[in-house]
Amino acid sequence: MMTDSATGLALESKAPSIKDSPFIRACYGQNKGRIPVWVMRQAGRYLPEYRALREKVSFLELCRTPAHVATATTDPITRFGFDAAILFSDILPLLEPMGFSLEYAKGGPQVTPAIQSPDDVSRIEDYDVASKMSYVFDGVRAIKKSIPDTPLLGFAGSPFTLACYAIEGHGSKTFDKVKRFMYEYPKAAEELLERITSATIAYLQEQVKAGADGVQLFDSWGGILAVEEYHQWSLKHTARIFEALKGYNVPRILFVNNLAPYIDMVAELDCEVVGVDYRMDLAQAQRALPGKAIQGNLDPNILFCAPDEVKRRTQVMLEALDSHDNLIANLGHGILPQAPIESVSVFVDTVHSFRS
Ligand code: CP3
Repeated sequence: MMTDSATGLALESKAPSIKDSPFIRACYGQNKGRIPVWVMRQAGRYLPEYRALREKVSFLELCRTPAHVATATTDPITRFGFDAAILFSDILPLLEPMGFSLEYAKGGPQVTPAIQSPDDVSRIEDYDVASKMSYVFDGVRAIKKSIPDTPLLGFAGSPFTLACYAIEGHGSKTFDKVKRFMYEYPKAAEELLERITSATIAYLQEQVKAGADGVQLFDSWGGILAVEEYHQWSLKHTARIFEALKGYNVPRILFVNNLAPYIDMVAELDCEVVGVDYRMDLAQAQRALPGKAIQGNLDPNILFCAPDEVKRRTQVMLEALDSHDNLIANLGHGILPQAPIESVSVFVDTVHSFRS
């Protein structure tokens, strides 16, 4: 099958099983069938198959080996019957060819050397994404061979989220260094975000060319920004990325971890789907985002409740909505490593049996 992304024929040229799937239909607000469901971090440590794979290979080796990527992506689909798969990878490897080293330690990922000055930004290397990140695109092709009838999401981190790791060097609760850098060196901060944005555009375009049926941008840390700063430091760059993907005709999903303060701005963004975090009322988000599909947003911690309660809370979430044609059920952030497998089955089955 040829996919001429340059002329925007990606979705039109896809197999009916993808185009007519509940997931893709819901992305365009046109789903009349069962409500689609998947969960963020569905290929993660809560899954015995994943833990077994990680006994054999390190996290980065897994990400760099297309056959393992296909296995890790496919396992949760086989076990739970999720309506969408998400490429197994991480948001940080895109930083590596820019001149950063990556390490996944016990306490979370480490990026070295962290950016400390405007000079550090000018030393960042531009690179050919198609060749340097080819293992990711090979992974996408391997997944499509393994599960051709399941919609596959490609993804990337938002430029602001990646800049947070590049400047801070690791995760943080407050990202003080990032904020100080932005205020002290606004020009260098802008240049850093622009460079990451350009790499991200090529990265997501290549994922779609390799077969991804949709893309999700994770703005995991944009939610730390003051409302009046959000557009300049995060949303503006997201908008440039989504604009560059528009002609590819695949659904574009933005997940903002802490969406509520910025939801009116996000409503103006040209995209198909908005991922809603667990803090926000999903029905309120739906009303605030006319013309868009919504994805979310059960609190991942609810999965630690008894099965009946998981079922009840899922039903409460679904019953509150005005429409289900534009809903993709998901958690309101990534599933936690200790989450019980049984709860995931209850969540999926409750969503699937809500409307058939
Ligand atoms: O199943 C999937 O969702 C696909 C794979 C995926 C991973 N990371 C695998 C992973 C995706 C989509 C991500 C996105 C990601 N990575 C985000 C954005 C989403 C969010 O949570 O807000 C962020 C901020 C990261 C950066 C990152 N990678 C962190 C903070 C960590 C450590 C914390 C943790 O959850 O372990 C990682 C490691 C990571 N990425 C793991 C997995 C399965 C665990 C690695 C292991 O096996 O030890």
